[in-house]
Amino acid sequence: MNKFFFLLMMHCCACIMVAQTSLPVYLDETESIEERIGDILSRMTLEEKVDMIHAQSKFSTKGCPRLGIPELWMSDGPHGVRMEIAWDSWKHAGWTNDSCTAFPALTCLAATFNPELAWKYGKAVGEEARFRKKDVLLGPGVNIYRVPLNGRNFEYMGEDPYLASRMVVPYIQGVQSNGVAACLKHFALNNQESNRKQVNVEVSDRALREIYLPAFKAGVEEGKVWMVMGAYNKFRGKFCSHHEFLLQKILKGEWQFDGVVVTDWGSAHDTREAALYGLDMEMGTGTDGLTKNTPLAYQDYYLAKPYLKMLRSGELPLSSLDDKVKRVLRLCLRTNMDRRRPYGSLATQEHADIACQIAEEGIVLLKNDNHFFPIKRGKYKKIAVIGQNAVRSLTVGGGSSELKAKKEISPLEGLMSIYGKKNIYFSMGYTSGPSKFHPQLPAVDKADSLRYAAIALAKDADIVLFFGGLNKNYKQDCEGVDRTSYGLPYGQDQLIREILKVNKNVAVVLISGNAVSMPWIDDIPAVVQSWYLGSESGNAMGRVIAGDVNPSGKLPFSIPVRLEDNGACSFGASSYPGDGTNVYYKEDILVGYRWHDTQKIPALFPFGHGLSYTEFAYGELKTDKKIYDKDENIVLSLKLTNRGKCGGAESVQIYAGQSHPSVLRPIKELKAFKKVFLLPGESKNVTFSIPAKELAFYDEISKMWIVESDCFTFFCGASSTDIHDTVSVNIR
Ligand code: BGC
Repeated sequence: MNKFFFLLMMHCCACIMVAQTSLPVYLDETESIEERIGDILSRMTLEEKVDMIHAQSKFSTKGCPRLGIPELWMSDGPHGVRMEIAWDSWKHAGWTNDSCTAFPALTCLAATFNPELAWKYGKAVGEEARFRKKDVLLGPGVNIYRVPLNGRNFEYMGEDPYLASRMVVPYIQGVQSNGVAACLKHFALNNQESNRKQVNVEVSDRALREIYLPAFKAGVEEGKVWMVMGAYNKFRGKFCSHHEFLLQKILKGEWQFDGVVVTDWGSAHDTREAALYGLDMEMGTGTDGLTKNTPLAYQDYYLAKPYLKMLRSGELPLSSLDDKVKRVLRLCLRTNMDRRRPYGSLATQEHADIACQIAEEGIVLLKNDNHFFPIKRGKYKKIAVIGQNAVRSLTVGGGSSELKAKKEISPLEGLMSIYGKKNIYFSMGYTSGPSKFHPQLPAVDKADSLRYAAIALAKDADIVLFFGGLNKNYKQDCEGVDRTSYGLPYGQDQLIREILKVNKNVAVVLISGNAVSMPWIDDIPAVVQSWYLGSESGNAMGRVIAGDVNPSGKLPFSIPVRLEDNGACSFGASSYPGDGTNVYYKEDILVGYRWHDTQKIPALFPFGHGLSYTEFAYGELKTDKKIYDKDENIVLSLKLTNRGKCGGAESVQIYAGQSHPSVLRPIKELKAFKKVFLLPGESKNVTFSIPAKELAFYDEISKMWIVESDCFTFFCGASSTDIHDTVSVNIR
């Protein structure tokens, strides 16, 4: 080799080495995330930083094109990936490649009492989000079910903070295993839709900590969620989306949340507060479609030009901006800058199977006199299926959780494929207008003729299956508005009564995300609480009705007899829906079954209730010791036996109550649960380990969690009222 060629080679090698070593730190995947964030930040101009923290379209932010930081794309959640929405209006974009798997609503997931399914759910819906090129899925929602009229209860996980906490953690972990962020919403106290954008919530510190925050805390501390959405409403006079106490002190301080706080769409109200009180990203302000949009809308956001101006003038510190940008960059590095994340998949058979399993495990058998269910194939020649919910699409409507489902098997289709078309006779019975966010559209059919036809059918049917409930229509389980009454809409109560006059062999299947009154309950032998079950709705329902699947769902909320039996509603308008300005949470910590138990007001169907086609025998509840220190775990065990003739699963629930508390405490509170599958005749030992510190209450004076030295009773049961055994221990 001649000398010149050798020198040229050396020069080239040197150049390659320089090029390799000059890879910017932020693109070097061997560097830590924090180093990479610091490096990007040091390269950004003030304007580029501000551009990162507000919308550039309805569901995206701009990133930093000069440095190759990608746009960040978000989509609703939480039950599937919403159809594509237009660039800057709420209209559907009209794409043809955005049909998804509709998973069951989160009430159904909660009703499974099965955290493993929550992980599968999260992983699958995250895969769909990833395939659709979304970096953030705007869910799950964990606002506590406070009143049965809340239009969005179907999107949440019920009334119990422990149940919601156990279910939300794996959901988040599943979503985020795809390199897609989950977004925990709506932080906090968004427990009603009435006046949601203005209402000011007044609630005690204790109820806040014991009831309304635990699921958020678990999602942050255990689930390690990457994004949290601020709520629309106010709390103690301040908007939640820039709330110093909620966001700075609790979320980012106590819980050490290192992700992004995003507004709900249009929940920012002030530049200074947004800058200083914990908000990191502003979405949805003033881009409300044709009415308010202007070409510069995104630059006019509180966290856009107005913020830039105040930063330049020194009115607001640069450190406030840097902290937000760092958080957004951390989110990018976790999602759209992670080159190793998987590619996802959409509407696969695997996802349909997961959706079906969740639906099957979530359906709750409320009442089943004389073994009405299961209905074996061939038993009846003429099965009347009555009610609009047997055929109506329930994946549409309801607000931001609407979906364009690739398929949606209706209950009618599910039943036809099980019992054969010739044995199923359908009549609509009642009707309602098409799903529209606002306003309510009238039905086109004549209510009287529908009713007469249904009654005529019921008269000579062997059996009647009534499919009713709510339907995500405006004011019937829908975002932005609460229901206005506890009863079933569209004349369903009257229809059920009239059917009963001509045929007593009637079961009611309620599809809803909320409790409804059941004035006909004594005359109906069997009632099923079903949910918005999504793509596999009819398959799951059909299989439960026929007994191919043994129901194992448990109610994630209490169903009161009357609306006034609900804690919040018992105090009149100031407690719900509020006096126009404030809503006072007068029932305090006594939410749901805590209220029914403590006030001795029996629910029609209690929290945790759900029947099975088999029968479970509960053995004696034992503890490993009788006296525990406060840092110990209480180990409980019992033997559970399936005494029936078919396999099935039981969710064993453990509640705890304190004997002589120095403050008011609920009679009992859920502290553990386990879903146990047993073959006929099989027994299993079921054990639970409950840290004694979980027996604490939040002390408002010391602002600490306190476990008192006292006697505590553990209640083991099949629901919050069906208690099979108790055992007491002392905590010293
Ligand atoms: C809802 C959020 C949703 C957002 C974006 C808001 O109206 O409250 O839950 O994620 O819109 O669609």
